Amino acid sequence: MEVRLDGRTAIITGASKGLGFAMAKEFAASGAHVAMLARTRDTLDEAVAAVSQGASGQAAGFVCDVARADEIRTAFDAVIQRFGKVDILINNAGISRAMPSEQITDDIWQEDLELKLFAAIRLSRLVWPGMKERKWGRIINVLNSGAKAPRANGAPTAVSRAAGMALMKVLSNEGAPHGILVNGMLVGLIDSDQHVRRHRREGANVSYDDFKAKMGAGVPLGRIGRPEEFAAMACLLCSDLGGFTTGTAINMDGGATPVV
Ligand SMILES: NC(=O)c1ccc[n+]([C@@H]2O[C@H](COP(=O)([O-])OP(=O)(O)OC[C@H]3O[C@@H](n4cnc5c(N)ncnc54)[C@H](OP(=O)(O)O)[C@@H]3O)[C@@H](O)[C@H]2O)c1
Repeated sequence: MEVRLDGRTAIITGASKGLGFAMAKEFAASGAHVAMLARTRDTLDEAVAAVSQGASGQAAGFVCDVARADEIRTAFDAVIQRFGKVDILINNAGISRAMPSEQITDDIWQEDLELKLFAAIRLSRLVWPGMKERKWGRIINVLNSGAKAPRANGAPTAVSRAAGMALMKVLSNEGAPHGILVNGMLVGLIDSDQHVRRHRREGANVSYDDFKAKMGAGVPLGRIGRPEEFAAMACLLCSDLGGFTTGTAINMDGGATPVV
């Protein structure tokens, strides 16, 4: 089976690091042109250069804070100017945030929803008319397992992500007659820059490999995931071979989520 994305253009948010970077690499290697969005110019430029190496599709970076409506509009216009169309949208940018609910202020709720929900709403709305016109589109909302299985101290993320899952289902129903397929990917624990940063903050006395092994000990498969495993699933969903899968939220968690 060969999974190809030739002729497609993808927007990937949060594409300079972690899962977004892994998807950008996989998509460009599979033939797609990739518009990579993130806030920090330097790391974005480095990521674009790394993705471009040996890729059959082109990669370009667009500085954008997706929590801001004005920046989303500007970045979208720039992507259209560069690539002419958007066939695939990956709403991936996010940060991990969880705390006791009594400590969550209105500002924190608002920030979390802007980044994890409104960014996906706004970008989906922008790419939708073109996808509808061409009768082909793929949208993936990257969420986390708290969307299906919220836990104590899991807000605000679990709430934003559950809303992102509902958005995915609504859009999948609206998009199906137009060939627009919309899915969610629910992350458990997957190796990425955020865990490297956490190791720097909290794990000074253990190696990163030991730190990861400890995180993976509670996962049924006995380890945390690899970003390439996540990117491969996203690539399949966004290809023509993913053409019968829509409206579903796939657990990417090594079996950790207690619900299907
Ligand atoms: N890895 C996991 O175990 C895990 C678990 C649960 C959920 N997730 C979700 O999976 C997604 C990817 O996570 P990751 O682990 O790959 O994260 P990561 O390694 O921290 O990378 C985050 C990426 O998003 C960008 N970003 C952050 N805020 C942004 C904003 N406001 N606008 C635009 N770009 C932004 C970052 O670049 P800049 O900082 O330069 O903007 C970076 O490129 C996130 O939504 C995360 O919540 C991951």
